[in-house]
Amino acid sequence: MFVERESVCVLGGGSTKYGKLDDSISDITLQASVGAIESAGIEPKEIEAGYISNVFGVADKQVHLGPVVMSNLGISECPSLSIESACGSGSVSFREAFANVAAGFYDAVLVTGTEKVTHTGTDWTTTYFSYCSDFFYEGQAGASFPGLFASMARAYLHEFDATEEDLASVAVKNHENGVLNPKAHLRKKISIDDVMDSAVVASPLKLYDCCPFSDGASSVILCNEKFAKEHSKDYVKVIGSGRGGSPAALQGREQLTTIPSTRIAAEAAYKMAGITAKDVDFAEVHDCFTVAEVVDSEDLGFFEKGTGATAARNGDTKLNGSISINPSGGLKSKGHPIGATGVGQVVEAFEQLTGKSGERTVNDAKIGLTQNFGATGASCAVHIFESV
Ligand SMILES: CC(C)(COP(=O)(O)OP(=O)(O)OC[C@H]1O[C@@H](n2cnc3c(N)ncnc32)[C@H](O)[C@@H]1OP(=O)(O)O)[C@@H](O)C(=O)NCCC(=O)NCCS
Repeated sequence: MFVERESVCVLGGGSTKYGKLDDSISDITLQASVGAIESAGIEPKEIEAGYISNVFGVADKQVHLGPVVMSNLGISECPSLSIESACGSGSVSFREAFANVAAGFYDAVLVTGTEKVTHTGTDWTTTYFSYCSDFFYEGQAGASFPGLFASMARAYLHEFDATEEDLASVAVKNHENGVLNPKAHLRKKISIDDVMDSAVVASPLKLYDCCPFSDGASSVILCNEKFAKEHSKDYVKVIGSGRGGSPAALQGREQLTTIPSTRIAAEAAYKMAGITAKDVDFAEVHDCFTVAEVVDSEDLGFFEKGTGATAARNGDTKLNGSISINPSGGLKSKGHPIGATGVGQVVEAFEQLTGKSGERTVNDAKIGLTQNFGATGASCAVHIFESV
């Protein structure tokens, strides 16, 4: 049983643009971190620890990024931890930071997620990413992530009243939101026909059902409420945090149309927050492929099993629909720099709840949720945020 000692808050957030970036991984990590520090209105020396998530630093010749960013911030004596949990690395580092601030070890910490891979090209990036699957059963057998999620999509379309057009409506909606996000990778309005006519990547998934490969970094400052109040009135409370796991390979799962780790993490986060799915105003979820957003929306309790695709088709998940899903544009349009994504979701929650999200603002939002998983959902973390 978790007994929280300190009320934990997000005090500031910063992100680079997501996309194909020219700067080095060290530079983008620093840029996002400085953005969060400036947004929080603190001095680097007030940071007591750093949590830096990254998966393929090796692709840009820099691992052990924690001490590098701390040194570049002029606080080399500050302890740091480099964290890898595949595409879910950002939310796991956020969770570790949350636990340490909640336990009273630190008053204020830096959480930065970062990735730089696009310069390696699609073939190499696809190969690198397959190392995040259960490589014995999946990657080495030739299963890439588009292939694995295509299996989930095939199962979903078979089991439920859903069509490829319904999945396409997720991409259309996320691109619509991404157009409103100046930091998004793919800022382009698309139609259902564009999705249906795009090249098949792994049937039934087409180009526009897939997130792109992205570079980018995102960062937040996490602190206790006393520290937050002393520095700003623009902070949000972290009221729920949960983690969960699933069999690493898809073949170990009883069903392909649900992700156990999401359900477990969500249940824990809702319990800690003392709320239910009905209380959530918006959610940033892990839509690496359109089918993933549909499955997430059911696993998080927003819709009954098998009805997520219908809800997407009916526009329930649009900006200011019954539950706004991925107002940032999500992984599909905002982009998916895998080590950064989970932290980027928290930046979006912070901006939404402190009136900093411009045209993509969810009206009267008080509670936001983030869900970010690794690989096909082998690991997952869910967090819940409340405005003050
Ligand atoms: C879908 C995918 C195969 C496309 O790769 P590609 O064919 O090499 O695409 P390129 O990078 O050459 O880009 C070609 C064009 O398509 C666009 N594009 C690339 N990926 C895109 C995507 N996912 N959605 C929409 N457009 C995309 C590019 O912007 C580019 O457009 P332009 O010619 O107007 O500049 C690749 O993005 C992919 O594998 N995505 C999934 C990533 C993944 O698995 N992540 C982990 C999730 S668990």
